[in-house]
Amino acid sequence: MDNRDISMFGNKGEAFEAADDTPINPTATPTLGDIINTRFGRRDAIRGALAVSAISATAAPMLLKSGQARAEDSRYVFSEIEHGVDETHHVAEGYTANVLIRWGDPVEADAPEFDPMNQTPDAQEMQFGYNNDFIGYVGLPLGSDNSEHGVLFVNHEYTNEEVMFPGLGKQDNAGFTGMTRDLVDIEMSAHGCSVIEVRKEGGTWSVVPESEYARRITMRTTWMELSGPAAGHDRMKTPADPSGSRVIGTINNCAGGQTPWGTFLTAEENFHGYFWGDLDAGHPEFENYDRYGVPGNWYAWGKFHDRFDINAVPNEANRFGWIVEVDPLDRNSVPKKRTAMGRAKHENAEMIVNGDGRVVVYTGDDQRFEYLYKFVSDGTYNADDRAANMDLLDSGTLYVARFDADGTGEWLALTHGEGPLTAENGLDSQADVVIETRKSADLLGATPMDRPEDVEPNPVTNKIYVNLTNNTRRNPEDVDAANPRAENAWGQIIEITQDGDDHAATTFTWEILVQCGDPADAEVGAIWNSATSENGWFSCPDNMAVDGKGRLWITTDQGGSWSRVSGSADGVWGLETDGELRGTGKMFFRVPVGAEMCGPRFTPDDRTLFVAVQHPATDGTSAFPGFERNSTFEDPATRWPDFQDGVPPRPSVVVITKDDGGEIGV
Ligand code: FEO
Ligand code: CA
Ligand code: CA
Ligand code: CA
Repeated sequence: MDNRDISMFGNKGEAFEAADDTPINPTATPTLGDIINTRFGRRDAIRGALAVSAISATAAPMLLKSGQARAEDSRYVFSEIEHGVDETHHVAEGYTANVLIRWGDPVEADAPEFDPMNQTPDAQEMQFGYNNDFIGYVGLPLGSDNSEHGVLFVNHEYTNEEVMFPGLGKQDNAGFTGMTRDLVDIEMSAHGCSVIEVRKEGGTWSVVPESEYARRITMRTTWMELSGPAAGHDRMKTPADPSGSRVIGTINNCAGGQTPWGTFLTAEENFHGYFWGDLDAGHPEFENYDRYGVPGNWYAWGKFHDRFDINAVPNEANRFGWIVEVDPLDRNSVPKKRTAMGRAKHENAEMIVNGDGRVVVYTGDDQRFEYLYKFVSDGTYNADDRAANMDLLDSGTLYVARFDADGTGEWLALTHGEGPLTAENGLDSQADVVIETRKSADLLGATPMDRPEDVEPNPVTNKIYVNLTNNTRRNPEDVDAANPRAENAWGQIIEITQDGDDHAATTFTWEILVQCGDPADAEVGAIWNSATSENGWFSCPDNMAVDGKGRLWITTDQGGSWSRVSGSADGVWGLETDGELRGTGKMFFRVPVGAEMCGPRFTPDDRTLFVAVQHPATDGTSAFPGFERNSTFEDPATRWPDFQDGVPPRPSVVVITKDDGGEIGV
């Protein structure tokens, strides 16, 4: 979420727009002179004279190539689908997209069937949660590349009570008058993660019932351990946990990542939204919370659970905003919040094993003017000893990126005692540095970005891709080389090359792969390869996946403003990164009205693509001809995927296969 249309949500909607309800990063500084130099110098050098037109803010649509490239040479071999929006999903011809599991479907043994008129917290605790986002897959047995039997790990990012619960309508922080304790508890149980076992038989995927792996991890009941530098620190202690080392639940799990030792990383994103209260300006955590927008007042949880009231339990909000590691193979395992990777509104946590064996995790902090991070472990990955890797993520170096106007950049270490990260600046230890990751990054002079969403290393090429989804608050005087458009409603994708192809390197080079938006609208300032068709461009890149051939696939989240930024529903696009076609998009899949496209994940054989259709019927529907209303349980813009009277829309994981059983896009 994050990109919602304020008008349709009132107070809560405003709060939902992640970057709207929190102060803009105070250290965001304009570098206009730099940008002009960069656009002349760098683009001119890299792209040829054509790119010089990019200098002019009023230039015609900016295209990378001038017609040399031919779309029929695409590495993405499928018939492109068309932009558009309607009540259902669409996939390229010759492919089948089936719903694998929906909100409310049974996950754990003995889970009751979904009954939308009689939901209970205990039922939801065992059923598939709401708003599926990240999807991870490991083949079974562990270590195999089995692409027809495995464990699927899914995040449940947040809840939309207006389409979940009958008779409620949109709630807002004027009082959440319709919210009861039971509804709040259902919401808490609908957050977290699901682990399911899946199998492909006769070409069709299904969920294995009563699996030994099947598990719900929820906000309401699942104990987790805090590990790394902040664990046990006084700022992490609460009345329920005087040790500062244990916490119930994980929250707003957006995207994530997976490790080569068969665990999943799930990223806590907009944790601020779940807290309410009014901390006194003199409180020791006031500035810290202010920097993260705590309290966000998005939900009524503080009404029934003291720990979401920052006046009652002031330290609780320090226990969220982390990357959590889950072992899916042991349903009794205790998930660990790995504090060494910092506290932020983490979009994701994608890992790659570096050439020297150390593991490197890339993560974006998804809010306007926030930063891009990476973590480099101290220890090295041991392919022969799973247990030896289990605490690799507890010690290492956290870095934040600075993008320089000449196309180079530097990773700045967030290490206590170095540079400004000292007691003089209120940082007494590495625990303080990770708890106040944003402040520490401010002090180092990191580059404020246009909302870093997914960050994906490509293991085939070693390049790293950064989806910057949009930033409508960037003013003309605030643009810089990496964030070159003011009032950027469309986003851009940056490609990073680490110096020496070393993911532990502290220096890198970078360039913008595409500037998203409509290339036919000169005012947008989009940059695509001219081979891109009228359906191949997109806006607001969010998640992505790299397939086994090193091809990049992008999914989008235009939020409430989709009708403004593309007029099409969100979806999946292939995006060329190399050769003559570099910068060419091609549309493969489209979601139903009001949904966002999350979680793309290929099986190792590239014959299956899992995707997550999040919040169908909710985003931006009021603006689209034919829908023109804000959805409720009783009157949703679509009842996808069931299309049955009385059954609300249901976020679902969809599994895409090619009808001839072949590899996707080949
Ligand atoms: Fe939860 Fe940044 O999307
Ligand atoms: Ca998003
Ligand atoms: Ca989302
Ligand atoms: Ca996202």
